[in-house]
Amino acid sequence: MWGGRFASGPAEIMEEINASIDFDKRLARQDIQGSLAHAAMLAETGILSHQDVAAISDGLKAVGAEIENGTFTFSRALEDIHMNVESRLKDIVGPVAGRLHTARSRNDQVATDMRLWVRDTIDSLDVQLHDLQSAFAEKAETFAGAVMPGFTHLQSAQPVTFGHHLLAYVEMLARDRGRLADARRRLNECPLGAAALAGTSFPIDREMTARALGFDRPTANSLDSVSDRDFALEILSAAAICAVHLSRFAEEITLWMTPQFAFVNLSDKFTTGSSIMPQKKNPDAAELVRGKSGRIFGALQGLLVVMKGLPLTYSKDMQEDKEGVFDALQTLSLCIAAMAGMVRDLEPDVKSMKRWAGAGFSTATDLADWLVRVLEMPFRDAHHVTGRLVALAASRKTGLEKLSLSDMQEVEPRITQEIFAVLGVERSVKSRLSYGGTAPANVRKQAKRWIAKLAREAAKGRA
Ligand code: ARG
Repeated sequence: MWGGRFASGPAEIMEEINASIDFDKRLARQDIQGSLAHAAMLAETGILSHQDVAAISDGLKAVGAEIENGTFTFSRALEDIHMNVESRLKDIVGPVAGRLHTARSRNDQVATDMRLWVRDTIDSLDVQLHDLQSAFAEKAETFAGAVMPGFTHLQSAQPVTFGHHLLAYVEMLARDRGRLADARRRLNECPLGAAALAGTSFPIDREMTARALGFDRPTANSLDSVSDRDFALEILSAAAICAVHLSRFAEEITLWMTPQFAFVNLSDKFTTGSSIMPQKKNPDAAELVRGKSGRIFGALQGLLVVMKGLPLTYSKDMQEDKEGVFDALQTLSLCIAAMAGMVRDLEPDVKSMKRWAGAGFSTATDLADWLVRVLEMPFRDAHHVTGRLVALAASRKTGLEKLSLSDMQEVEPRITQEIFAVLGVERSVKSRLSYGGTAPANVRKQAKRWIAKLAREAAKGRA
């Protein structure tokens, strides 16, 4: 297709390093979509005859059908998806196929295809993240009042509820969706018509192709159009942050499944056994979600490094954007699906969580708050008094609630029997009514708010 000035063919190893068809065949649908829009514009502007474009369009649709039904033969000698499609088009419609590439280059073509692919992928990831949010929110509503230990430094800090913990992930996923939507808005400009790098001398209508492909407008600078891969970097960084969230919950599941924590259980659907230790039930799916995040971070890092030294405009290095983007987003999609399955499958052990919720003097802050509220102590003094009570309980290897009133009064004589009421974990969480706090009433309200919001989004999506 570009052999005019070449006397002999490429070395075998050249074909090996140069060909991208093994991975960019995934762009087939977008490539044909882009070519159809380009061809229609060439007819509309009178650059090609309507008759030629009708033949080209029918041919492109036939090529598309062959690819969809698996009868298309991809050839490495034809390098990439763009030339594979064009070559087959020529088989089908004859020499008129050669007119399709008028006022176009593979540089603007591939930039367009990739934007279309990333945009499609953002849309499907958003549907999946919505589903994962629903799984978290529904479980959160069911367990809005189930007390568990809340941690800082992985040390018992204050009692919280399981529902509150799950809703934290609903918030994270909302930001992930926001980042995807934001990336989508910014990528939605059409590079088609920038041609190789400088634009074209043909009277093309870039508004028309942009509109036909669902873009908001054409890109404004032809050099930027063919050399920009920000949209790939942006979706990879949004994917990487999302993978961090999935990995953190995967880590929590893994910890919580140990007999030492015994907070949750996963069914046989998401666990595996050991070939030597008959008692084992391993949370492999969670471990893999945690592990696969590494590939996603690697893809982001990889593309940043590919791009950082490239002078404007297109360089073949940029062909290396594809495998990382495809692999990372496919991996993310798999991880979201596995996580949604696990969240729905997850059975909290409410009794065990509650038992541990009171460990580690977790209601010490409630005690200090009582001293502030009832005895009107400054918080810093209350903190000190409580610290001495914790030390006393620790020295006796017991909990704060097991100290006697006289023990307490030795540290602070004004303490009354009333203080014991605030030392229970249920009472502790119920009191955390501040906006965003863990009180079951708050959690129930937030879970309901999310469930309703997600249902509204689903209804809008279907409409
Ligand atoms: N396969 C190439 C890529 O993925 C398409 C663009 C090739 N452009 C070129 N001037 N050789 O980047």
